[in-house]
Amino acid sequence: MRWRPWLLNKGRPRRSASAVRRVPHRRGRTFPDLDIRTDRLLLRELRETDVPEVVAGASDEVTQRWLPLPWPYTEQHATLFVTRLAPALRVSGHGVVRVLEYDGYFAGVIDLKRTDWTARVTEIGYWSMPGFRGLGLATEAASALTRWALEDLGFERVELRVPPGNLASNRVAVKSGFVLEGVARNAGQVRTGRVDLAIYSRIRSDPGQSGMR
Ligand SMILES: CC(C)(COP(=O)(O)OP(=O)(O)OC[C@H]1O[C@@H](n2cnc3c(N)ncnc32)[C@H](O)[C@@H]1OP(=O)(O)O)[C@@H](O)C(=O)NCCC(=O)NCCS
Repeated sequence: MRWRPWLLNKGRPRRSASAVRRVPHRRGRTFPDLDIRTDRLLLRELRETDVPEVVAGASDEVTQRWLPLPWPYTEQHATLFVTRLAPALRVSGHGVVRVLEYDGYFAGVIDLKRTDWTARVTEIGYWSMPGFRGLGLATEAASALTRWALEDLGFERVELRVPPGNLASNRVAVKSGFVLEGVARNAGQVRTGRVDLAIYSRIRSDPGQSGMR
């Protein structure tokens, strides 16, 4: 019998070129657009009516000290953040932004960002309104959002990066159950220049993870 190589594939379904080139779908690689309730907070999406509070919170001296935000922070910056940047962050899969709503008031902003869906790692960040600080609200929000990522969404690790000099945020990290891993030297940028960043994490297998508030 003659050598007929095309018969070797007989009976085997051939992969079509279109199947090989198919773009991987994004389902399961974006954060759900959900409200999250805690004891005292509703973590909800940003709305255009939040723009004045975003301007006030982002213009605050302590927020400006620790977060690399534009100065002056104008209504145009807030509108862009609320209507474009925050929705785009979620749609791209890179993260999600939630408002801390406390008793009907806008009390701050929290987000997940720099998300790696393959490694199942994400990073948390937050700021609170000056009039709502010291009430444990950032801690409550950070605990809830982290628990949501680890327990409901199947993430393995949530990171938090804090300049060592930002004492309030380091307290929030510890109170929210994050573990200090070390200091990344010269790793961050704030308005006054370069800073070290303390690297904290909470991971899925941390003791007490499932019961942690
Ligand atoms: C960091 C921030 C979100 C904390 O918000 P908050 O709602 O006050 O946080 P909580 O009330 O949950 O906890 C704050 C803790 O910091 C402590 N704290 C506040 N200011 C402090 C200071 N200057 N030095 C030491 N501790 C301080 C509070 O006493 C509290 O700890 P305690 O419960 O042990 O008393 C808020 O200060 C903020 O918006 N800062 C500007 C933005 C920012 O730094 N974001 C984080 C970037 S890494």
